[in-house]
Amino acid sequence: MNLKRKIKNLISMEDLDRSDIEQLIFLAQKIKKEGMGKRVAHSFISGLLFFQESTRTRIGFQVASYRLGGDSFILKETRTSDSMLFAAESVEDTVKVLQSYTDIICIRHSDNDICTRLLPISKKPLINCGNGDDEHPSQTLIDLMAIKELCGSLDNLSIAIVGDLRHMRAAHSLILGLSKFVKMSVRCISPKELSMPEKYKNVYINSGNILTEMTEMNLNDVDVVYMAGFQPKTPVKTISKKIRLAYQANKTTLAQLKDKSIILCPLPRIDEIKSDVDQTKFAKYFEQSDLGLYMRMAIVKWLL
Ligand code: CP
Repeated sequence: MNLKRKIKNLISMEDLDRSDIEQLIFLAQKIKKEGMGKRVAHSFISGLLFFQESTRTRIGFQVASYRLGGDSFILKETRTSDSMLFAAESVEDTVKVLQSYTDIICIRHSDNDICTRLLPISKKPLINCGNGDDEHPSQTLIDLMAIKELCGSLDNLSIAIVGDLRHMRAAHSLILGLSKFVKMSVRCISPKELSMPEKYKNVYINSGNILTEMTEMNLNDVDVVYMAGFQPKTPVKTISKKIRLAYQANKTTLAQLKDKSIILCPLPRIDEIKSDVDQTKFAKYFEQSDLGLYMRMAIVKWLL
């Protein structure tokens, strides 16, 4: 399948339209159905520049590259780290040097502006694997694929997004992604001081879809519960156990769900979903995670 529109980078869900998302999901589903295909070794190299911790995204893009016939290198310990403070190098210089070794760059960094800083100097396709507390678009494409596979459609759905919606970048990209679809009703559930920032909400509201905000864990009538979770520490404070548990998916909160509701989570899970939920029919987060490989392969294929 040839994707209709060529996009050089994956930086924000705002850059994609509905057709891009649908085509990426189609491509990922095709890879899932047809298998990994024949591997032709060393056809391309992915540079995985992770200035923040990651399990799924880093290993996911590494394996996706390998499965597509490419290879990868990972940069973790960098000259920007504290241990190298006296020989510090800017991320820009690191990228200028390493991009000559790679065909695609996947980056995660604590700076919200990292992609804006790198785009003018980047000569290779850039995948934003998490920029500070702003966005995580590749995670959202996995989330949307999971919703499409499990609910059958990306329109006409009621979706609750629960947790620290101020800081969780997967929640920001998700609401931007959902704004591309129609007849959506999104319920943002969070403590008041951790509510969804205006800039993401406004894009979604301007799409004509419905948004409700609440502080109570009200999951009545939702099709999808997206457990965005809480960072153990925000930049300004630690979230207390009491608050975390007030927004937990557990057997009590699940009693509100419809028979066909599903629970998704970008993972890692800390305590936002009680482990005994895993055995219920609602728990779909590990199935969602399994789709990550196919979607990351589709993204790499698309950008290359
Ligand atoms: N969901 C996600 O981004 O997980 P990692 O932090 O492990 O990459």
